[in-house]
Amino acid sequence: MVDACARHEGAAVNDGDGTLSAKAGGRQFGPLGTALVIIPTYNEAENIKTIVGRVRKAVPEAHVLVADDNSPDGTGKLADELAATDDHVQVLHRKGKEGLGAAYLAGFRWGLEHGYGVLVEMDADGSHQPEELPRLLTALKGADLVLGSRWVPGGRVVNWPRSREVISRGGSLYSRLALDLPLRDITGGYRAFRAETLQGLGLEEVASQGYCFQVDLARRAVKAGYHVVEVPITFVEREFGDSKMSRDILVEALWRVTAWGVGDRVGKIKAKGK
Ligand code: GDD
Ligand code: MN
Repeated sequence: MVDACARHEGAAVNDGDGTLSAKAGGRQFGPLGTALVIIPTYNEAENIKTIVGRVRKAVPEAHVLVADDNSPDGTGKLADELAATDDHVQVLHRKGKEGLGAAYLAGFRWGLEHGYGVLVEMDADGSHQPEELPRLLTALKGADLVLGSRWVPGGRVVNWPRSREVISRGGSLYSRLALDLPLRDITGGYRAFRAETLQGLGLEEVASQGYCFQVDLARRAVKAGYHVVEVPITFVEREFGDSKMSRDILVEALWRVTAWGVGDRVGKIKAKGK
């Protein structure tokens, strides 16, 4: 693990499993409670049954919430079939495609209302391997938020075209510099939040829809002083179906991150002037 707060709370130490963590400033963390794995879906009919099955096998005590935006390919119906035979699987049917961010916000709200202690973000397409979830949850025992990270030592991507890697690394680097965040993988979407952390992020004000939703949440967590750690993951590019990445999603990320960065700097200058 690489610790976002290491600068403030002392040097990183090896925690024995080959990853780095930092002492959490002597803080005590409460028990985790039951985990809800939220899987947003839009046209994931080829993937939904496999991914839910893998989550149920890897972490049998966790529950799954599929947040489907009325996928034209019938993903929602397939998810209903899973839910009908497994009381650990639920489906949130949404009226239409509104973006990853809106689907997660609805899933978080549902999970918090139902008393889950941990809320996990996971893609449906197999890029985030459920078999790595136990490691994320172990790290969360001593953190407020855990980011699955491709860009820390031990993290990697499999089968990604060079162009995608350049965009992703560039996006994280730009966000890191523009927003002054001590994180390596800021856009990643494999994460585990404690419920209390989500409650402290001001989710009602979040307007980001696409990939910058992830940047937005990471930025809010660091700003709020939460203990954020990055755990290396192996991200595997999807075999079936299509990525929903688009020009619009990238443009939204670029303008929002830039606006946040400018806003932060103006705020600092004003504070100095007082
Ligand atoms: N409900 C809903 N609504 N789900 C959506 C929508 C939407 O509008 N758009 C995408 N999803 C779902 C997909 O079905 C999939 O389960 C997940 O969100 C990720 O979508 P992909 O299209 O596979 O994203 P990606 O592989 O290009 O991007 C991944 O990496 C990015 C960083 O590089 C995701 O993990 C992103 O969150 C991450 O920012
Ligand atoms: Mn994907």
